[in-house]
Amino acid sequence: MGKLIVVSNRVAVPKARGAAGAQGGLAGALNSALRDYKGIWFGWSGAESDDENDEISTQSHEGVTTATIDLSHRDIDEYYNGYANATLWPLFHFRLDLTEYERETGKGYERVNERFADSVTPLIEEDDLVWVHDYHLIPLGERLRSRGLKNRIGFFLHIPWPPTRLFVSLPYHERLVRTMLHYDLVGFQTVEWRESFLHYCSEELGAEVNEETGSVTLDGRTTIAKAYPIGIDWDHFQAEGETGEARQAGQRLLSSTRRRTAMIGVDRLDYSKGLPERLDGIGRFFDQFPERVRDLVFIQIAPPSREDVESYKQIRAELEQKAGQINGARSEVDMVPIRYVNRGYSHAELFGFFRAAKIGLVTPLRDGMNLVAKEYVAAQDPLDPGVLILSQFAGAALQMPESLIVNPHSPDDMAYAIRTALDMPLAERQRRYEATIDTVRDDNVQHWTKDFMADLTSIGTSG
Ligand code: F6P
Repeated sequence: MGKLIVVSNRVAVPKARGAAGAQGGLAGALNSALRDYKGIWFGWSGAESDDENDEISTQSHEGVTTATIDLSHRDIDEYYNGYANATLWPLFHFRLDLTEYERETGKGYERVNERFADSVTPLIEEDDLVWVHDYHLIPLGERLRSRGLKNRIGFFLHIPWPPTRLFVSLPYHERLVRTMLHYDLVGFQTVEWRESFLHYCSEELGAEVNEETGSVTLDGRTTIAKAYPIGIDWDHFQAEGETGEARQAGQRLLSSTRRRTAMIGVDRLDYSKGLPERLDGIGRFFDQFPERVRDLVFIQIAPPSREDVESYKQIRAELEQKAGQINGARSEVDMVPIRYVNRGYSHAELFGFFRAAKIGLVTPLRDGMNLVAKEYVAAQDPLDPGVLILSQFAGAALQMPESLIVNPHSPDDMAYAIRTALDMPLAERQRRYEATIDTVRDDNVQHWTKDFMADLTSIGTSG
């Protein structure tokens, strides 16, 4: 068998793992996949070049070879800030109200996919497996096929797939999905997103779909669609938890909260994460149970993200206002109920914070999976575990039904869940932890990679 070629928008070398909390799940997941399989990780360097520059820069670090290109200001504007993050991201997270469509950014998206194909094709040899990631690069498989590639090519979508009725609001939606049918294998985080995709293919494209096997046949080509729920890098995270850095971080948090229970949220500053709604839930908790204001301190870590996109500027302003309002109304001279922190922390520090916080709050309005939910549970002390409050709209809720499942649109639901978590007896906390920890440990990122790679290796290709 040949080597593995991974292609994703961003490439994050292992030494940058410290920022993983800010980078989202994909970077950490791919680093561990590439540690296990010999191969090359190709993508954008994250840097802006002055002009169209096709130079590929390669580096090897801890067994991972990365090959990156820079993008021009126009490429970043149209492809990354534009079509990927102002069109596809909101649409795929069911936010039609925030979805913008501009012909120019659509063209930029296609142009950058073309550039990716031009640059990565010479790195691919006959027997190599190619694995493309996420919504930035949906058309890449078709672009590679048009250059004559007959390799097995897989694609994994890290975010949700929206219901057909929403998806058809995207101009040229057919064109986009038809390009996806040039992959041999298409992976989704949950069965729900896979079903929506199959529904679209059958209803809108008239493809022949087999719900059971997930095969989609159109114009003589067959693609298999399957769910592969992503997991965390359990061993690596546990090792981080053993470090002095993790212990110190936990101590720091505990000594600053004293007799109050720490409740924590860690999210990229993104509207899909439901942060204003979360603050509404906390505000409601303080309104309903004013005698408990001194029992709780909420720590929200929210590193800024995609700051050039208008909807992200707005969400940041809204959060600052809401956090300020609640603190203004509820603080005392010796006590502030919400600590709102706009920076990222290393994985080791996050482990320490998660273990010290007796409630984890993960309440996205829509999320492909959400690895923070899994990391929170993974960091708990089995003898005295904390409680995870989890949105019913995170992919992770399907795998972790023993968490306290909430509707993030309901401040009352969240307020009551917070009170339940605060008062939950040890035996029940342990029972919920025991019911969840096996899937967090066993359905890990190595397992995810192995499953996807095994299917991609054994599948036939329509070439
Ligand atoms: O999980 C979706 C995703 O876009 C990943 O591809 C990425 O690692 C993460 O969110 C962070 O986003 P960005 O690369 O835009 O900072």
